[in-house]
Amino acid sequence: MIGLVGVIWVGHNQTQEMVQTQPMKLAAAEGLWHTEDPASFSLFTLVDQDHDQDIVSIRIPYLLSVLAYDDIKGPVQGILDIQKEYEAKYGSGNYVPNITVSYFSFRIMVYVGCFLLLVAVLALIYMLRKKPIEKMKFLKLFPYFLFLPYLCNSAGWILAEMGRQPWVVFGLLKTQDAISPNVSAGMVLTSLIGFTLIYGVLMVADVYLLIKYAQKGAGSEIDSNSAAAVKA
Ligand code: HEM
Repeated sequence: MIGLVGVIWVGHNQTQEMVQTQPMKLAAAEGLWHTEDPASFSLFTLVDQDHDQDIVSIRIPYLLSVLAYDDIKGPVQGILDIQKEYEAKYGSGNYVPNITVSYFSFRIMVYVGCFLLLVAVLALIYMLRKKPIEKMKFLKLFPYFLFLPYLCNSAGWILAEMGRQPWVVFGLLKTQDAISPNVSAGMVLTSLIGFTLIYGVLMVADVYLLIKYAQKGAGSEIDSNSAAAVKA
């Protein structure tokens, strides 16, 4: 729970930073077409990026301004307004990242993060109430939640990388200009295959060992230790 509060707090601060430094990433992560003040937070939005419009959008008024400024007022720029501003500033081009990817990676990270916090709070309440462990049936679900922080991490990373497109360094260097002339496509493919193979082998070994020792159970190690002690 302490870890989650820390991560969510840092995430919240990153959002407040993002509204200043990478407004397009936030606008895409919110599916916000037009500048709003106060700005609404999207609960669920599906966009049609080819036609610059929503397919469906459920929004909570004021909430995005609250998240971005800790205030019920405060402007959050929209995708189309920023696009116009960047065309004037950086020349013609498409400055809008993939909205659906940015939007859902943000939502998966935030919603799953909040869900995990809820679960941790529930466990803490049960603990403080000294509820017997046999009565906490929901603990059985915990092993299935193990992969959720990995999901949040991957979603956060995808948001960070995809949301900043078409820039490698926002406002300074475009992805299309950042390609190294010394590295050929064949070299990239070879190293990618190499990394995939190495990580694949490590993953197989890891899963094998995890299953092997999990099936043995925690007691087996203690038993073999005490047997060795008796022998000695
Ligand atoms: C629930 C509230 C959360 C909020 C408001 C939030 C907010 C953010 C924001 C705004 C970014 C993008 C930063 C950028 O591109 O400049 C980000 C990235 C990231 N987030 Fe979250 N986050 C939350 C929860 C989580 C959780 C629970 C995890 C992991 C368990 C997580 C892991 C990450 C990671 C790994 C990145 C990528 C950082 C990078 O590569 O630069 N976030 N988050």
